[in-house]
Amino acid sequence: MAVRIDGKALAAKVKARVAAEAAGLRRRPGLAVVLVGDDPASKVYVAGKERDCAECGIESFSHRLPAETSQADLLALVRRFNEDDRVDGILVQLPLPEHLNGEAVISTIAPDKDVDCFHPFNVGRMVIGDPVFLPCTPAGVMEMLDAYEIPLRGRRCVVLGRSNIVGKPMAALLTLRDGTVTVCHSRTEDMARYTREADILVSAVGRTGLITGGMVKEGAVVIDVAMNRDEHGRLCGDVDFAAVEPKASHITPVPGGVGPMTRAMLMRNILTAAKCHQAQ
Ligand code: GUN
Repeated sequence: MAVRIDGKALAAKVKARVAAEAAGLRRRPGLAVVLVGDDPASKVYVAGKERDCAECGIESFSHRLPAETSQADLLALVRRFNEDDRVDGILVQLPLPEHLNGEAVISTIAPDKDVDCFHPFNVGRMVIGDPVFLPCTPAGVMEMLDAYEIPLRGRRCVVLGRSNIVGKPMAALLTLRDGTVTVCHSRTEDMARYTREADILVSAVGRTGLITGGMVKEGAVVIDVAMNRDEHGRLCGDVDFAAVEPKASHITPVPGGVGPMTRAMLMRNILTAAKCHQAQ
């Protein structure tokens, strides 16, 4: 039976360290949070991030904008935060409504306040192994793998999903740690052929029941990044937990796995930004 990776407990430790360091700074770190529209999942995520900020002694400045907000108004708000010395980090919750250009918004965030690590400058720094910030979800996964002393060098890592938020940066971080990485996506033929070979399998697709017991190698480490709802409306991931848990060596639950770690890594990035700003 697999060891359950306790993301909640690990996140609590990370946040306690962030809180202790934040308390020692001259000024409280600050996060500006922008939520455009009323996507219910985004509202829940943003509320969680605000709660974490409060726990860590980080001030949050929240802006909830109507779905019809124009690109110009959104960019103007981001630029205002770029200039605001109380703001160390800027987080624009994605996805944005259809008419808005997310890439332009991300590129407008000052790179030293890009605590999501989405700006092309920070993505580049991360990929070459000289990061300023680390992308929150992939960094949270790496932190979990390290906490449970899971070796990566030379091992077969399979990442399902190629999004800019998770799949691509996840593959980059595993590669930097000498994993042998394969990325599967919606156009991959016979995905099970790859997943069955994986020593470390990271699923970030968003499809309930995608990973069955037959798709996982005996003794594999299975990390479930997805946040789906099952037919009863309960939170679940991509992995058929009951079927995979007996085969895996380690497995993350949903909820209580990757989600809390993503948020803890955001807190750590805000602290990094604040320390950098206060050193200037
Ligand atoms: N939407 C889903 N995940 C994230 C995230 O980590 N950051 C932001 N800004 N939006 C998201």
